[in-house]
Amino acid sequence: MINILITVIKAIWFILPAYFANASPVVLGGGTPIDGGKKLPDGQRILGDGKTIRGFIGGLMVGASIGVLQDVSPEIAEMVGGKTLGILHGNWTLGFLLALGALLGDLAASFIKRRAKLRRGQPAPVLDQLDFVFGALLLGSLIMIPSWEIIVAILIVTPSIHLGLNFGAYKLGYKSEPY
Ligand code: CTP
Ligand code: MG
Repeated sequence: MINILITVIKAIWFILPAYFANASPVVLGGGTPIDGGKKLPDGQRILGDGKTIRGFIGGLMVGASIGVLQDVSPEIAEMVGGKTLGILHGNWTLGFLLALGALLGDLAASFIKRRAKLRRGQPAPVLDQLDFVFGALLLGSLIMIPSWEIIVAILIVTPSIHLGLNFGAYKLGYKSEPY
């Protein structure tokens, strides 16, 4: 039981830059959409109004900053098993890649949703909750691939954390849908 808890904490610590990169655009985003309002021949937007330049840059800055903070706090990193995770000095690049991957994964999901004729904000279960994790793990793997236990823990705990945060953001008026 305690081992499961430790694995979950390590997993959240590992993926934290991606969480921040994915959540902060809800607050920081808005303005010009990345696709410039353009549509593809299928008549649908490339990405949609939910993916903005400000959200992307803001998310990258916040997410990467979390990676830097993780990097300069080896005490905390050690507490949650930093050595085994490789998150000690000199690994802020991992945080940057996790944040960038999260944002790109989120863009990819919106691209797929638009091709499936889902409008901005319409739910795509599983994809909405895990798109950014897939992107983060993919880009992060350029530097390190976490153990399979960590990956499984990330995939299991992320959807509920994501849904919980989105519900909070909806209640606070940042999102128009509670999911
Ligand atoms: N956001 C942003 N820029 C990004 C990503 C997100 O501005 N690159 C903001 C938008 O305000 C968006 C909100 O964060 O509405 C929540 O993101 P998400 O749920 O991924 O977007 P949706 O509006 O649901 O759009 P989609 O259907 O494309 O997922
Ligand atoms: Mg969405």
